Amino acid sequence: MSDAGEEGSYPDAPRIVHPPPGPRSRELLAEQGKWETEAVAYPHYFPIAVASARGATIEDVDGNRFIDWVAGISVLNLGHRHPRLTAALDAQSREVWHALELPTEARVRFLKELQASLPGTLRNHARIFFTVTGGDAIETAVQLADYAQGTHGTVTFSGAYHGVHGGAVRLTSGRKYHSTSPFVGGAVVRVPFPDPYRPVLGADEGAAGTISYLTHLVNDPYSGVDGVSAVLVEPVLGEGGYVVPPPDFLPALREFCDGHGILLIADEVQTGLGRTGKMWGVEHTGVTPDILCLAKTIGGGIPLSVVAYRSDLVQDLPRGFHLGTFRGNPLALAVGTEVLKVLRQGDLLEQTARRGTALIERFRAIGERHPSIGDVRGQGFMIGVEFVKDRASKVAWGERAKALRSALFARGVLMHTCGAWDQVLRFMAPLVIEDELLERGLHAFEDALESLDGTIESRIARPQKGPSSVTDWHPSAGPGLGLPSPPAPPGPHPVAETDADDA
Ligand SMILES: Cc1ncc(COP(=O)(O)O)c(C=O)c1O
Repeated sequence: MSDAGEEGSYPDAPRIVHPPPGPRSRELLAEQGKWETEAVAYPHYFPIAVASARGATIEDVDGNRFIDWVAGISVLNLGHRHPRLTAALDAQSREVWHALELPTEARVRFLKELQASLPGTLRNHARIFFTVTGGDAIETAVQLADYAQGTHGTVTFSGAYHGVHGGAVRLTSGRKYHSTSPFVGGAVVRVPFPDPYRPVLGADEGAAGTISYLTHLVNDPYSGVDGVSAVLVEPVLGEGGYVVPPPDFLPALREFCDGHGILLIADEVQTGLGRTGKMWGVEHTGVTPDILCLAKTIGGGIPLSVVAYRSDLVQDLPRGFHLGTFRGNPLALAVGTEVLKVLRQGDLLEQTARRGTALIERFRAIGERHPSIGDVRGQGFMIGVEFVKDRASKVAWGERAKALRSALFARGVLMHTCGAWDQVLRFMAPLVIEDELLERGLHAFEDALESLDGTIESRIARPQKGPSSVTDWHPSAGPGLGLPSPPAPPGPHPVAETDADDA
C-alpha cells in the first residue's frame, strides 16, 4: 500500500535467519537485564533486540524480520517511520525542541488541525489540554469533570484500562494493577461493560441492563453511591479484551448522562486516530462526548496526549490547573499535525474499515476449524480472537493464547494478548500494512495454531490444506483481502521452533 510511504515494510518479512532470540539479541537482553529493572514486561513476550523498523515490520539485531501486529500497542497506526512523519520531525528538529507552553508555529498548526479533526459538536469548538501519556490525559479529564461539576465520583466499567498513574489506576479495573498501587480507593463506581460474548447483566438486552443498573445507582438513595460527576468509557474495550459493545450502548449512555446531568468522557487512547476504521471510536454511533482523551498514535511514537473538552464546560480554570514540564512538546506536535493530516487525507480510514471486516471473516473462518477459538470480534483493525477450553462453558484459555503468541513469534509474527485472563489474541497492525503481509500473517496464525492443537476437523474442513509453514507459503495459498499491489514475494525463510519465554 502506498500509504505506508515510499519505503513501506520490509517486503520479505517474516524472515527468520536465527531462531529468536538470536545471538546478538541474547547479548543485549542480558545487558538490559543487568542494568534495567526486572519489572520490564515486553522483553519476556518478544525476546529480541530491535535494530530498525519500517512500515509494519521490525528487524532485530540478528537480521530476523518480523511482521508487526502489535504496533507499539496501537501507537504506530501509521507504521514505523512513516516518511511524512519523519520529514515533519526533521524539519521541527531544526527549529525548537522544547518551549514550555509558549506558542510556536508547530503548536498552533497542531491545535487547528486537531480542532478540525474532532468528532461531532466538539469539532472546532473544543478547548485543548496537553498532557504527555494516556494515563495523564485520563487523570486530567476526570479532574476537569469533577471541577466542572463541583462534585466527585466517576463511573468506569469492568474490563476498563485507563493507565496506572496514581489516579488513573483507580479507574482501571484489573486487580493486579490495584495490588501494587498506593492510590486505590476513592470515588470510583464500577459497572459491568456490556460484553456480548460474556454478558453479566442479560444476554439479549443490548445496553439496557447496564443502563438500568446505572439508573439505579444514581437514583436510589440507598444504592451506596454518593455522587457521580462523569462516566468514563472506552468505545471498544482495549486491554479488557477488544470487546465491541452493542451498537445502542454509547447512544444510551449519552442519553443517560444527559438525563442525569453527568458528563461523558470518552477514552480514545486506544480506539482513536483510525484504529477502528473511523477517526474516532465514538463516530460509529454518532455520539459526541463532553471530554475526549487521546494519546498513543497522536505523537506517532513520540509521547504526546491530549484532552479535548467542550468549550462551554468550564471557563474559569485556575492557571496551572494541571501541570507538567513536557506537555505539548514541539517535536511531538509537528509529528502529530502530520499524523492527523495523513489520516484525514486519502482513504486510509475507509480501507481500514473494509479490510478489518474482511479480516474478521478470515479469523472467523479459522475459528470454524479450531474449536479453541470461542469468539472473534472487532472493529476496523482492532480485532480480538478469544480462546476457550470449550465453547459451551466458555472457560477462558489464557495459556493457549500465550502459547500461540510464542508460536507466532517463532514464525516471525508479533501478536499480543489482552483480556482478563490473557485469553484474547489481538490484531492491532499498523493501518498501512500491505495486504501481502496480512495474508502471510494469517497463514502463520493458522499454522501456529495447528502446531498447538492440530485437530482432525481442521484437516477435514480444509479442502486444500495450505503449506505447512511460512517457508513454503505463497500468496496464492489463500483468498486475498482484495487490496492492490503486493510487494515482491518472499524468499524462503527457515522458521524458528523455539517458544518465547513467557512471563
Ligand atoms: C484505553 C487506554 N487508556 C489509557 C491508557 C494508558 O495510556 P499510557 O500507557 O500512555 O499511560 C491505555 C494504555 O494502553 C489504554 O489502552
